[in-house]
Amino acid sequence: MKYTTRATELLHITCPIIQAGMAGTVTTPDLVAAVSNAGGLGTLGAGYMRPEEIRKAIRDIREKTKKPFAVNLLITRSVQANEEDIRKAQELLEPIRSVLGIQSPNYAIAEEGYKEKLAVLIEEKIPVFSFAFDVLDLTELQALKSKGTKIIGTATNVREAKILANMGADLIVGQGSEAGGHRSTFLGTVESSMIGTMALIPQLVDALPHIPIIAAGGIMDGRGLAASLALGADAVQMGTAFLACTESGTHPVHQEAVLESGDQSTGLTRAFSGRYARGIENQFMTALQSVEHALPPYPIQNALTTDIRKEAAAQKNREYMSLWAGQASPMARKESAYDIVQRVVKEAYERMAIIHK
Ligand SMILES: Cc1cc2nc3c(=O)[nH]c(=O)nc-3n(C[C@H](O)[C@H](O)[C@H](O)COP(=O)(O)O)c2cc1C
Repeated sequence: MKYTTRATELLHITCPIIQAGMAGTVTTPDLVAAVSNAGGLGTLGAGYMRPEEIRKAIRDIREKTKKPFAVNLLITRSVQANEEDIRKAQELLEPIRSVLGIQSPNYAIAEEGYKEKLAVLIEEKIPVFSFAFDVLDLTELQALKSKGTKIIGTATNVREAKILANMGADLIVGQGSEAGGHRSTFLGTVESSMIGTMALIPQLVDALPHIPIIAAGGIMDGRGLAASLALGADAVQMGTAFLACTESGTHPVHQEAVLESGDQSTGLTRAFSGRYARGIENQFMTALQSVEHALPPYPIQNALTTDIRKEAAAQKNREYMSLWAGQASPMARKESAYDIVQRVVKEAYERMAIIHK
């Protein structure tokens, strides 16, 4: 199955489906390669990987596919850690640590910049680079482009998309409020950029007719792909749809939570990381809901909760893990990544044929 758009031509792929880069354990080289081999664009979510791990994963992907793939980073600028805020946040996390039976570790802010990771991507001459949370510096953009790398930025409103376009992005992801994982908002408040995919995509298409827009948020099957194309998008980016697939490295408890979820299961929280993100609601989110506005910003809070998330995962305790997933999570299936890509394109054709009748 093939479907040609401006995005497929630019990215040298045959299906307008991008598997979202998902930082953490989800996007194994097997998953990335399977999506690319199916005609979509697999993406390595390298946001939390060390530079040398990223290099190894890229080489692994290249052994498994000759097709284009992407690597995704989270553009994080360093923030000053305020001792008093950290002490207060640790105090709020203490009852959760005691439930899990762990001690509060000595907190040391790790310098978790993206620049060393980006240097690896430039050296490795990757086909496509996607990013979220901010813009790139012009020198970084030029260094990537000089290696033939295509650039995909992420916007949650029209103003951000225009800035990414001026910066020189080749394609732009429009992240609707349904989306699983972190909000990518970098201009204004997250609350003012909770725009649904259906409302956001045509506004981005109208504002930037010369740049292919990629619809993200709530797209799980051919109906979502057909709808996105009808709204003027040139491709879709799907994250949640790949969480339970055979090749994903998603923790089994996270997969189970996604497969058992319902239409009202997800909520928005900044308690895990200091940045708003959508996930399946659990005790951790409920317990910190009333105080989450006072918690330190990303990536400080993310570092503070690392031990909790790790221990909860080791104990298979879903109540204290970050179970990132989008509003359409009940539609996720246990299926191979290859089948997801091919099925979604086939279903989109069927849906469009119904509309044309
Ligand atoms: C588990 C998970 C982790 C994610 N991590 C990232 C990430 O590291 N970088 C990024 O650009 N987007 C990330 N996202 C957001 C996706 O890029 C995309 O916006 C979202 O998955 C689309 O909505 P959907 O989940 O309904 O398909 C993540 C999403 C999920 C579900």
